[in-house]
Amino acid sequence: MVHKVKAAVVRSKNADVTLETILVPDPGPGEALVDILTCGVCHTDLHYKQGAINDDFPFLLGHEATGVVSAVGPDVTEVAPGDRVVLNWRAVCGECRACRRGQPQYCFNTHNATQKMTLEDGTELTAALGIGAFAEKTLVAAGQCTKVDPDADPAAVGLLGCGVMAGIGAAINTGNVQRGDSVAVIGCGGVGVAAVAGAALAGATTVIAVDIDAKKLQRAKDLGATHTVDSSAGDPVEAIRELTGGFGADVVIDAVGRPETYKQAFYARDLAGTVVLVGVPSPEMTLELPLLDVFGRGGSLKSSWYGDCLPSRDFPTLISLYRQGKLDLDAFVTERITIDQIEEAFTKMHAGAVLRSVVEL
Ligand SMILES: NC(=O)c1ccc[n+]([C@@H]2O[C@H](COP(=O)([O-])OP(=O)(O)OC[C@H]3O[C@@H](n4cnc5c(N)ncnc54)[C@H](O)[C@@H]3O)[C@@H](O)[C@H]2O)c1
Ligand SMILES: [Zn+2]
Ligand SMILES: [Zn+2]
Repeated sequence: MVHKVKAAVVRSKNADVTLETILVPDPGPGEALVDILTCGVCHTDLHYKQGAINDDFPFLLGHEATGVVSAVGPDVTEVAPGDRVVLNWRAVCGECRACRRGQPQYCFNTHNATQKMTLEDGTELTAALGIGAFAEKTLVAAGQCTKVDPDADPAAVGLLGCGVMAGIGAAINTGNVQRGDSVAVIGCGGVGVAAVAGAALAGATTVIAVDIDAKKLQRAKDLGATHTVDSSAGDPVEAIRELTGGFGADVVIDAVGRPETYKQAFYARDLAGTVVLVGVPSPEMTLELPLLDVFGRGGSLKSSWYGDCLPSRDFPTLISLYRQGKLDLDAFVTERITIDQIEEAFTKMHAGAVLRSVVEL
């Protein structure tokens, strides 16, 4: 059976998001059909719309979602109809080099549903990050579903599906922030503020939030920043050094992903410290650094895909911390909107007015 559902699609580069009827097939082997409850609007959706990820239009946007499994393919054992799930965009294979070495968070062979969702005329859709959850139903690989506690607010926990997990994981997994560390986070949108919260959760004693927008800095304070630096006036490196005894931070996280913010991160870190790049650069960007500085400053330069998370390990842990009041996921939900308000949500995101707009389906 094919399901006809309402969904948010971008047909061509920079076109407005349109509401379309799409066709979603029943799940085949290894697949799950999910009724979407909520889906957050992430900057990566905007990157898709702008053609900054690839040119495989039309895109079915949305990838920070909570839903309920409505059907599974014949061989699926991980989840069953009725399960409350948060969707993830890295279903691990269990067989590649990374998986076999016991490091499935680096799986080189993550997968999505095999069957395609289409427009009514049969045009195949590219689902954002293999999810496509601005839709009443979506089809994913069963491994993209992580079963979670059905009592938790779907809008809040669904954000673990992308931006919030990417940010928290950039701090606790990739950056390996330790109790007593100093951490600076450049760019305090949904991802950066989550990195601030992650650093605080890990016991960092100095957490410096940096942004060019003063509104973002206040929110970062609410989520655990001990200091803020407004970098609209200029380079934040000196200010970060001053706040860290003249040294620089142990871990600096670039949650913007531009050459200039990366350079700031590079020079704002202490000798032998760690830089984590979690913001996603666009294809034309290049970076130039004196190689002697790369060598001489020691330490490590890391990139963080999805916060190097393992959804089956990290989602339930973080939801448990949320329920204990130790991680304020509610603070990330700035507004709840309907599926026809995604363009407005992009505008608000661009204006820095929201951490996350969450579509309720
Ligand atoms: N690595 C991953 O797995 C992953 C996952 C999700 C999102 N992302 C990426 O993370 C980035 C941030 O996403 P988001 O949803 O938080 O976006 P957002 O638009 O909500 O936040 C970006 C923030 O950066 C600030 N900013 C912009 N230019 C700046 C500058 N020069 N200096 C300091 N601050 C600056 C903005 O004011 C804003 O607060 C995006 O590039 C997104 O694609 C990466
Ligand atoms: Zn693998
Ligand atoms: Zn995202």
